[in-house]
Amino acid sequence: MSNFVSVEDLPLKIVEQLLKRASYFKNGGQPPKFKQPVYVANLFFENSTRTHCSFEMAERKLGLTVIPFDPATSSVKKGESLYDTLLALNSIGVQLAVIRHPQNDYYLPLLDLAPTQQLNLGIVNAGDGSGQHPSQSLLDMLTIKEQFGHFAGLKIAIIGDLTNSRVARSNMQLLQRLGAEIYFSGPQYWYDAAEFGQYGQYLPLDQLIEQMDVVMLLRVQHERHQSEDQFDVTAYHQQYGLTKERYQKMKDDAIIMHPGPINRGVELDSDLVEAPKSRFAEQMRNGVFVRMAMLEAVINGRKLGGI
Ligand code: CP
Repeated sequence: MSNFVSVEDLPLKIVEQLLKRASYFKNGGQPPKFKQPVYVANLFFENSTRTHCSFEMAERKLGLTVIPFDPATSSVKKGESLYDTLLALNSIGVQLAVIRHPQNDYYLPLLDLAPTQQLNLGIVNAGDGSGQHPSQSLLDMLTIKEQFGHFAGLKIAIIGDLTNSRVARSNMQLLQRLGAEIYFSGPQYWYDAAEFGQYGQYLPLDQLIEQMDVVMLLRVQHERHQSEDQFDVTAYHQQYGLTKERYQKMKDDAIIMHPGPINRGVELDSDLVEAPKSRFAEQMRNGVFVRMAMLEAVINGRKLGGI
């Protein structure tokens, strides 16, 4: 593939190949030896720890040359557009751009360029607004596959700040196609039946918790809320959070997932972050290997490594 921006229409055969390749890297498989240097820049216009650092770890493990880019000290501060920033980076030799951006679908104009335009670099989406988070989705799929070996028939609850969540959108789109049974929970003002109802049923958490194989908690994204008038941390935790009491009711082999960063004491009890059913650390570990597979796929699709 020449860009990697979404999982919405990603063929399941490619998903399977990427997960297999990520597992190969995780189990100590050697990364490819590219015949030519490949130059990559990570452009993060929103804050990030996991995605940014694990893309950079994946790039270094693949032997790519990382050209540092910090929006805060770049000419973006002088008003340079995303397109012109990428044109500058591409002109000096950057071949791949990993981008996180607050605007949904920021990548669409970059994929649909007029023939007269000179920009020619691979775009890897590291998260766009509330749209897509393909690398998070694939690392979540790898984590689920490692636990259960399959997706079909698994009961998966996605809980919390659904409206604002690119993780929820990417995961529901992919999990539905993989045959999982999806449920939603959390405050109803964050559940839009017209959008989410196509993917699964909304139920109160206490009606779901005992049945679920995967309990996927979403971060409450305070920075995206217009008003916090309605938000009461204690009430949220009691009504929608994973309390110790709810954790005790989960199936023996069920797991809990969270894309991070975690609001301890809000989405879940702080003591559960490292509980036996928690897969948070494994999700973060898997992120490196999945991102290696994604970057390799784009490098090969563009024949950048000379192989
Ligand atoms: N899960 C995730 O995207 O985390 P970061 O915002 O820290 O990258």
